[in-house]
Amino acid sequence: MTTATGGPTARTGSDAPALGFGVHFTPHMVVSRWTPAGGWTPLELVPHGPLSLSPAAMALHYGQAVFEGLKAYPAADGSLALFRPRANADRFVLSARRLAMPELPVEMFLDACERVVRADAAEVPRGHGQSLYLRPFMVAVEPSLGVRPAQEYLFAVIASPVDYFFAGGYQAIDVWCATDQIRAAPGGTGAAKCAGNYAGSLSAKAEALANGCQEVLWLDAAEHRWVEELGAMNFFCVGRGENGTDQLITPGLSGTILAGNTRDSLLTLAAGLGLDVVQRPVSVDELTAADGRVTEAFACGTAASVVPIGAVTTPSGRARIGDGRPGKVTTRLRDELAAVQYRQQADPYGWMHAVDMG
Ligand code: PLP
Ligand code: COI
Repeated sequence: MTTATGGPTARTGSDAPALGFGVHFTPHMVVSRWTPAGGWTPLELVPHGPLSLSPAAMALHYGQAVFEGLKAYPAADGSLALFRPRANADRFVLSARRLAMPELPVEMFLDACERVVRADAAEVPRGHGQSLYLRPFMVAVEPSLGVRPAQEYLFAVIASPVDYFFAGGYQAIDVWCATDQIRAAPGGTGAAKCAGNYAGSLSAKAEALANGCQEVLWLDAAEHRWVEELGAMNFFCVGRGENGTDQLITPGLSGTILAGNTRDSLLTLAAGLGLDVVQRPVSVDELTAADGRVTEAFACGTAASVVPIGAVTTPSGRARIGDGRPGKVTTRLRDELAAVQYRQQADPYGWMHAVDMG
């Protein structure tokens, strides 16, 4: 295993340091290159290492760069399985299309992910909540300063053994409501997983941290009123339905929200558990109202799974959600999802994609 700076890391026994997220990398990566004449070259498994890139590579200047994030989960019997990798492959195609980049065939995406997992199976951590995070990405490498779609691309998959995304473990976070910045606007790139969306989010994240919060609550561009996402995660809340039962609520996919695999999986799991599931707009006023109608809120994504939200800070002050601790619906959903991913219970929806170690 190597660190982000390339040096070796020693991890042995129970004094092994926390893995963190995206700090350590496995020894291999898979690469392919694209040109209009040749299409994609056959996938190659190579040592994880520096790329040789022209300083005029177009991704460095105009941001033609898309990526994905998915995990290989270990089961108690030692086998490894990817969680819904086809959904990531499909989203990679959509992101590439939005940025005028070539589409990578779904089967090639799956093959690339499986090859990395197979090659570096010994690096998959086996501790509680740990997994191998895969980062497939595509960048424009043609050297040119012309403002147009590049004619040469690199696709690669790297892998990072990870544990829980937030250093504090599973506990409620405080979130900062962004009122003067937006993540996405109608017609923009919010529904694509492109690098620029993340660059544009960083100054609001710094503001959140400076104000004692861990993540940014993103509102809509037009009215600055409707909750869209939380950091690089989708947003959910739990409210009381008409008959007093719990209702799981998440904003619908309007084109400015990234269609998360975790979001979709939780909607499916919740409906299967008999929860009342609703996709509708949620205003920041509803979320922070003192009337107690919103009893829980959480964010979700591949990296962090389910993250309870304990409080929201807006210009009017800090509003606690429920009792400020992880809610019972939130924790139930998180446990159900983890049980499928780590194969501690049946996989009724066929989400786990076994990696053949042959
Ligand atoms: N929203 C954004 C902006 C993201 O970057 C991610 C992470 O990929 C998500 C939501 C959650 O998506 P998923 O559950 O597919 O990881
Ligand atoms: C995720 O994979 O859940 C993400 O949010 C990606 C993030 C680390 C950029």
